[in-house]
Amino acid sequence: MEDDRLEMTGPQWMCGELLVQGSKNAALPMLAAMLLVEGVYILHHCPQITDVDHMLELLSDAGCLTHREGHMLIVDTRGADRCSLKGSGAGKMRAGVTLLGSILGRLHAVEIPYPGGCTIGKRPIDLHLKGLQQLGAVFEHKEHTLSGYARKLHGADITLDFPSVGATENILMAATLAEGHTVIRGAAREPEIAALAGFLQKMGAHIEGTGTSVIRVKGVERLHAAEYIVPSDRIVAGTYLLGAVMTGGEIRLLHVPTAHLGILPHILEELGAKVEIQTDQNGIAVKMDGKIQPVPWLATAPFPGFPTDLQSALMAALSIASGPRILEEKIFEARFQVAPELLKMGVGIYTEGSLAVIEGEARLHGAHVRARELRGGAALIMAALAAEGKTDISGMEFVKRGYEDIQGDLKKLGIVLH
Ligand code: UD1
Repeated sequence: MEDDRLEMTGPQWMCGELLVQGSKNAALPMLAAMLLVEGVYILHHCPQITDVDHMLELLSDAGCLTHREGHMLIVDTRGADRCSLKGSGAGKMRAGVTLLGSILGRLHAVEIPYPGGCTIGKRPIDLHLKGLQQLGAVFEHKEHTLSGYARKLHGADITLDFPSVGATENILMAATLAEGHTVIRGAAREPEIAALAGFLQKMGAHIEGTGTSVIRVKGVERLHAAEYIVPSDRIVAGTYLLGAVMTGGEIRLLHVPTAHLGILPHILEELGAKVEIQTDQNGIAVKMDGKIQPVPWLATAPFPGFPTDLQSALMAALSIASGPRILEEKIFEARFQVAPELLKMGVGIYTEGSLAVIEGEARLHGAHVRARELRGGAALIMAALAAEGKTDISGMEFVKRGYEDIQGDLKKLGIVLH
C-alpha cells in the first residue's frame, strides 16, 4: 500500500472491539482556545491526524512551543505574541478560522489566511464575522488574508441565523474575555461545543447553557491554562458502526459518550441492526443479521439530527438496501462527491441539487475509486469492505485529516488488509 492509496479485498465482515480515537472537531477549537491566555496546556486523548498537525503549525507560527507524546499534547503559549499568522496551515483546513476569536480575545488584533478545508461547498464565514463584530471587532478583507482588531471586546446579545458550529465556537471564545455578558441565541448544540465550553470553564470561563440553543457567557478579566481530556470522535464511531451494518458484522465501540451519537443509534435500528447502548461503560454494541432495511428519506440536520459528516457513509450503506431511498443534504451544498465513485462500484445513484436518489439494490463490486474529501473517503472504505473483489482507493491523504489510523482500526475490527 502506498501512502496515499489503500487496497482492500471484499466482502469482509467487521467483528471486534475498538477504543475510539479522540475527536477532531473537539480538539481543533481547544487548540485555538489555548491562544486566549498564556500558559502551559495539556490535552489528553488528542488524535494524531493531519488537521491537528496543521493547527499545531499555526500555533507555532503564533509563537507557541508544542510537544507530543503519543496522544498527550503539551502546548506552551507563553511566547505566543504574534497576531499575524502567515503559515499555510489555515489554508489547509477550515478550523483555522476559530483562531479569530481566540487571538482577538487576547491580543485585540488578528490576521489569518482565508480558511480552507474540504471542498464541500462555499463555506462562508459571515456568521463568525457578524458575531465578532457585535462584540466590538472590526474586520478588513485583504487579498489573501483577513485582518481584524478590537480596542476592547464587550458583551452582546447575538442571534445566529443558522446554528453554525464554527461561529458558535468563535464567538464563545471571544466572549470569555469580553467585558460584560454575552448571549448567543440560535447557538449550535453539537457535543463539540459543550466540550469546548468544558475546556474554557477549566480555564476559568463562566459559561452556561451549552447543549441548548442559548449560551450565556459572563466575561472574566483573566483565564488560565488548563489540562483536559478530548472526548472520543462520534463521527469516527459512526463510520465504523455503519461499516458493521454494511458488512453484516458485530462490533463494540468503547470510549464513546453515547449521548454524543444523537439520532444515529435509532437510524442504525431502522436499518435493521440490533443496537445496545452501554451507558455505564461508555460503549455501544451493534450486531447486524440479514439485509439492510431501506430508510426511504433521510435529511441531514444540526445535532441531534443526522450529521452531515456521516451522510456519505449512510449513502454507502443504503446503496445495498432495496426500495427507493433519498438522501437530502441540508447543511452543505456540495457534499455528494462520493456519489460518482459509488457509481463505479455498482451503485445506481444520481444527484440533483441537495438530493441524492439511490435506485435498485446494488451488488457492490471492487473498482478504482478516489477519495475527494475526508468523510467521503471513509465511506468508500466502508463500501469496499462490502464489495466483491478488489477496491483500490486513492486520495487517502484526505482520510488522514480526520482518521488517525483507519487501517489499524479496521484490523482491530477483524478486517484483513493487503
Ligand atoms: C463543523 C465541523 C464539520 C461539520 C460541520 C457541520 C469542525 C472543524 N468542522 O464545520 O465537520 O460538518 O460543523 O456539523 O468542527 N455557514 C454560513 N456562514 C458562516 C458559517 C457557516 O453560511 O459564517 C454555513 C456553512 O456554509 C454551512 C453551514 O452553515 O452550510 C454549517 O456550517 P458550520 O456549522 O459553520 O460548519 P463548520 O463549523 O465549518
